Amino acid sequence: MTGLVLLFGLLFTVCGAGALHLNVSDQESISQAATTLTKGLYGYHNVNSTAGQFDQPQPWFWWLSGAGWTALIDYTVYTNDTTYVSDIQAALAQSLGPSFDFVPPQQAGWEANDDQVYWVYAALTAMEYDFPALPCVTAANNTIGNCTNSWYAVAVHAFEDFVTRWSIDSETCGGGLKWQYNPSASGWYYKNAVSNGGFFQTAARLARYSGNQTYTLWATNIWNWSVRTGLVGDGYQVFDGMSDAEGANCSSINHDQWSYNVAAYLSGAAYMYAATADPTWETITHGLLASANSTFFGGPSSNATDVMFEPKCEPSGSCNTDQASFKGSLATWMAKASALVPSTRLTVKALLDSSAVAAAGACSGLDSDTCGLRWYEGGFDGNAGFGQTLAALEVVQSLLVTTAPEMAVLS
Ligand SMILES: *[C@@H]1O[C@H](CO)[C@@H](O)[C@H](O)[C@H]1NC(C)=O
Ligand SMILES: *[C@@H]1O[C@H](CO)[C@@H](O)[C@H](O)[C@H]1NC(C)=O
Ligand SMILES: *[C@@H]1O[C@H](CO)[C@@H](O)[C@H](O)[C@H]1NC(C)=O
Ligand SMILES: *[C@@H]1O[C@H](CO)[C@@H](O)[C@H](O)[C@H]1NC(C)=O
Ligand SMILES: *[C@@H]1O[C@H](CO)[C@@H](O)[C@H](O)[C@H]1NC(C)=O
Ligand SMILES: *[C@@H]1O[C@H](CO)[C@@H](O)[C@H](O)[C@H]1NC(C)=O
Ligand SMILES: *[C@@H]1O[C@H](CO)[C@@H](O)[C@H](O)[C@H]1NC(C)=O
Ligand SMILES: *[C@@H]1O[C@H](CO)[C@@H](O)[C@H](O)[C@H]1NC(C)=O
Ligand SMILES: *[C@@H]1O[C@H](CO)[C@@H](O)[C@H](O)[C@H]1NC(C)=O
Ligand SMILES: *[C@@H]1O[C@H](CO)[C@@H](O)[C@H](O)[C@H]1NC(C)=O
Repeated sequence: MTGLVLLFGLLFTVCGAGALHLNVSDQESISQAATTLTKGLYGYHNVNSTAGQFDQPQPWFWWLSGAGWTALIDYTVYTNDTTYVSDIQAALAQSLGPSFDFVPPQQAGWEANDDQVYWVYAALTAMEYDFPALPCVTAANNTIGNCTNSWYAVAVHAFEDFVTRWSIDSETCGGGLKWQYNPSASGWYYKNAVSNGGFFQTAARLARYSGNQTYTLWATNIWNWSVRTGLVGDGYQVFDGMSDAEGANCSSINHDQWSYNVAAYLSGAAYMYAATADPTWETITHGLLASANSTFFGGPSSNATDVMFEPKCEPSGSCNTDQASFKGSLATWMAKASALVPSTRLTVKALLDSSAVAAAGACSGLDSDTCGLRWYEGGFDGNAGFGQTLAALEVVQSLLVTTAPEMAVLS
């Protein structure tokens, strides 16, 4: 615990059993902490699941399992621990659906764009790290390559879904994806950051990987629309969304800020910088990073220097199952951004080191793989669950991005 004491310059007691040991200067220690946390995370895996689901009490949404598998792909690549490879492959295969785009029949009727894109991130990550492919399926209508279910083909299929939906959704607000793509779902009249930021990130990652200008243009188009409508603010704040119900036309913005929203845009900008070397994207990446720092770090009383937190729900104790996981997305994509935009490295490292140490201190519930929610409290806060463990795993393993293999490009 000496790290925490030094960082905060304060003395406090860590309650519960022993906290997770973590020395952020030691790759082996980081790796071991990540291994402990994957075991905790895997405790939530439902072995009887038919759709690659982790399991939690209701309300429990499918997207979060996509986030879990994506984190386990990063874990596998960062540590070379192959424990979860076949389960990851099985989970993704079960969730692909008949068009190989993560629109499985099990989710029909209530899957939204943001649910889908969190599974697409798994395919994109697998694509970038040459993660072991699924047994090849070929379909006559496949135009991407010879396997319809290659990680790349799957990401392209989803990208094309988003393009089609954007076109349908452009009757309002001059563009933008709606949250839901099913007109009878209640999120049909909302254009939100997690969906559009997810599409932006998907296009940007495909642009960097393939060099195909279609993706570059789309990423730019989505970014421009997001700025034009005010979804992304003048200070690079990423707001939650805007209604496009009868007449609203995105004229009024829901100014809530959640960490996973800025995360999606931050990584999209970083991938665009890597794809284009255009300094505009580097400037945008820095703007989003500074915005993330000013909103999501320091704790509610600015008493936990550089420690990540979720201001909308942690101080009030109102985080739901989804929201408890969001910090993991921010950590993961800050880390990837730092790999892609070298000028962000020092800032990202400082923020992630402090946050990971604090998160490890909060992983001292029943065991050192039972993590709490509020890292800024300096110990386990009694608030445990899948999202909390996922976020802790992601912030800890994100420190390994510095030794991760380079992300591949299409050869
Ligand atoms: C952390 O790891 C570094 C590098 O291995 C080592 O020099 C240092 O002594 C370690 N710190 C603690 C507190 O164990
Ligand atoms: C899986 O299904 C079997 C047989 O129905 C049951 O005995 C077991 O408890 C289930 N396991 C979980 C984790 O749900
Ligand atoms: C993982 O394995 C590769 C290939 O053997 C090696 O180059 C790399 O250093 C290993 N990484 C870790 C974190 O052990
Ligand atoms: C492609 O073919 C498969 C069957 O091989 C079919 O299920 C799927 O709907 C087709 N996708 C498109 C986009 O036409
Ligand atoms: C896919 O195509 C490559 C070359 O284009 C070929 O070497 C490989 O055998 C093909 N794989 C399958 C499963 O058809
Ligand atoms: C809705 O917003 C878009 C983009 O801001 C604008 O181009 C369009 O004219 C607006 N439509 C109406 C009916 O106000
Ligand atoms: C570029 O991407 C678009 C969209 O997925 C696709 O239609 C087109 O065939 C791709 N072009 C090349 C040369 O691969
Ligand atoms: C995006 O906006 C920039 C700056 O206004 C402009 O130069 C560019 O053409 C726009 N690109 C797209 C694809 O909309
Ligand atoms: C984050 O922002 C705060 C001010 O809000 C600043 O003091 C701190 O140095 C920043 N952290 C990093 C790592 O740049
Ligand atoms: C910071 O303040 C919060 C709320 O005021 C408190 O719960 C937390 O324990 C404090 N953290 C530290 C490290 O002192």
